[in-house]
Amino acid sequence: MLLLLFRVAVAAALVIVAPVIAVPHPTRWLLSARSHWVDLWTAQPSPAAGSLTGPFNTTAGILVNSTIRQTLRVTLDAPAIRIRVSNNFGNQALNITRMTVGYPGQSLDPNATGTSTGTGSPFVQTDSLQSVTFSGNQSISLPDGALGVSDPISLPVNSQSQISISIYLATGQGGSNITGHLTSQTTSWFGFGDQTEAYNITGGNVLAANQWYFLSAVEGWLGPESSSFAIVGDSITDGVGTTVNANNRWTDQLLERIQSEGDGTARNVAIANEAWNGNKVLLDGSGASGISRIERDVLAQSGVAYAMIFEGVNDMGHADNTVEAQQKIYDSLVQAYSQMITRMHTFGIPVFGATITPFNGPNYNVTLGKYSGNIREQYRQKINDWIRSSGKYDYVVDFDAVVRNNSAPYQINATLGIGDYLHFNPTGYKLMAEAFDLTVFSRFVGGVDGYE
Ligand SMILES: *[C@@H]1O[C@H](CO)[C@@H](O)[C@H](O)[C@H]1NC(C)=O
Ligand SMILES: *[C@@H]1O[C@H](CO)[C@@H](O)[C@H](O)[C@H]1NC(C)=O
Ligand SMILES: *[C@@H]1O[C@H](CO)[C@@H](O)[C@H](O)[C@H]1NC(C)=O
Ligand SMILES: *[C@@H]1O[C@H](CO)[C@@H](O)[C@H](O)[C@H]1NC(C)=O
Ligand SMILES: *[C@@H]1O[C@H](CO)[C@@H](O)[C@H](O)[C@H]1NC(C)=O
Ligand SMILES: *[C@@H]1O[C@H](CO)[C@@H](O)[C@H](O)[C@H]1NC(C)=O
Ligand SMILES: *[C@@H]1O[C@H](CO)[C@@H](O)[C@H](O)[C@H]1NC(C)=O
Ligand SMILES: *[C@@H]1O[C@H](CO)[C@@H](O)[C@H](O)[C@H]1NC(C)=O
Ligand SMILES: *[C@@H]1O[C@H](CO)[C@@H](O)[C@H](O)[C@H]1NC(C)=O
Ligand SMILES: *[C@@H]1O[C@H](CO)[C@@H](O)[C@H](O)[C@H]1NC(C)=O
Repeated sequence: MLLLLFRVAVAAALVIVAPVIAVPHPTRWLLSARSHWVDLWTAQPSPAAGSLTGPFNTTAGILVNSTIRQTLRVTLDAPAIRIRVSNNFGNQALNITRMTVGYPGQSLDPNATGTSTGTGSPFVQTDSLQSVTFSGNQSISLPDGALGVSDPISLPVNSQSQISISIYLATGQGGSNITGHLTSQTTSWFGFGDQTEAYNITGGNVLAANQWYFLSAVEGWLGPESSSFAIVGDSITDGVGTTVNANNRWTDQLLERIQSEGDGTARNVAIANEAWNGNKVLLDGSGASGISRIERDVLAQSGVAYAMIFEGVNDMGHADNTVEAQQKIYDSLVQAYSQMITRMHTFGIPVFGATITPFNGPNYNVTLGKYSGNIREQYRQKINDWIRSSGKYDYVVDFDAVVRNNSAPYQINATLGIGDYLHFNPTGYKLMAEAFDLTVFSRFVGGVDGYE
């Protein structure tokens, strides 16, 4: 009891002196003035069994003697990068034979305009190509569950520009499971043989598929003023409803706002989109549950100084439309959100929340909106009240308020949706990006107290 009183007193004293001590409980790397690695791009690794058919998945293995070329968009300027490769969900070793990185050529997809021009391109600017090595070796064997990180690569990148990564697997991966990210909204290219240095992916069996495999992060080498903002989310953050190869997820549109309208602090913030289509807070199934992946997707990521939780809709939608079931989900969500926040606060990371957006069809018609339910709606309101007013989050963006139908607030505004009464079109995602307060980055630049 005495100890508790003492800690409360210390906490109270800290609150009072906080404005004097500019950096009360900073994340570890902020303690020094040194450069550090910062996530410039992420894809949440998830099980991707069943995603590859045809010649790239045979009884001899998956992606045997194959090259995958993938493009992705980085979120800050950096003079050097490195790449993380994940075998989180394979059940056998992932043997990377050779890997290169460079700048892509023009995309074949007319959707890829503006800063997205290279998105989904099968072409690479060959004079920009660099070998990717792992502790000095071109090859690496990653046992199931393991993560590989490349050596630093001096490939300068600009915020919102594309890079192209080519991976060759001579033997392929054994077993039926691989690690991937199936809602990439970006076209990847598959071809036979080692094409890691080829301008184009060619051959008789070339496959284009909107999926990413193995890549889990690209990091930039940056000064202490730069950091990353990790967002733990579901399909709405993963980009269901966005335009393939156009990078118009709400997080992409937030990045564009940060870069054009943000203050000096905000403009040094990269975005790490840690979302997965179908993800739940409480249960595995579509990726690992939110509560179980905080360590991997936020705390073990490079340079994360801000985080956000925006999920829960799939927990509510998959539970029965009864008071009993929804009350149980509500109680568990409140506890799980609090647990996730506490763990991130331990590292001084401020955690932002967002209200759950409407998911009902007109008149709660389940044919039109699969999660429709009047009791679910009562509990959506209840959990949103908690998200807004519990004080657990350091900042809350009210996405519900900006996308709901003002005359029938239990539904999304149909002009912002894609017809399933759940996901948004790029205009809906734009309103979400616009609702985000860009001053929160400077407000929390020193991190937060980690007491709870
Ligand atoms: C490869 O094909 C097998 C058999 O169809 C399937 O069970 C497995 O999930 C597939 N693997 C991938 C990575 O798609
Ligand atoms: C492999 O994938 C299958 C199908 O998705 C799944 O049932 C199984 O649990 C996975 N195994 C591992 C080790 O991840
Ligand atoms: C890495 O390369 C060095 C030098 O070529 C070689 O001696 C070593 O065996 C390689 N390591 C692995 C794990 O292949
Ligand atoms: C991958 O490498 C490991 C370690 O060298 C080896 O045991 C395994 O057989 C290799 N897998 C394939 C598909 O060749
Ligand atoms: C790998 O694929 C290339 C291109 O199809 C082919 O030329 C080569 O013979 C293959 N290598 C092996 C070992 O099968
Ligand atoms: C790229 O390769 C594809 C085959 O995959 C071929 O159809 C296309 O013409 C090639 N394009 C260029 C510009 O080389
Ligand atoms: C362009 O985006 C739309 C909407 O996401 C998608 O259906 C289409 O496949 C994309 N690519 C092309 C080549 O049209
Ligand atoms: C629900 O919507 C479907 C599809 O528009 C329609 O056929 C059905 O009649 C609706 N159900 C009710 C109860 O209105
Ligand atoms: C739907 O959204 C549009 C665009 O923001 C807005 O003009 C309109 O008033 C909204 N309608 C309703 C019913 O909320
Ligand atoms: C708003 O909801 C009302 C009632 O369901 C509906 O008539 C109207 O079309 C909806 N408007 C939009 C923009 O979704």
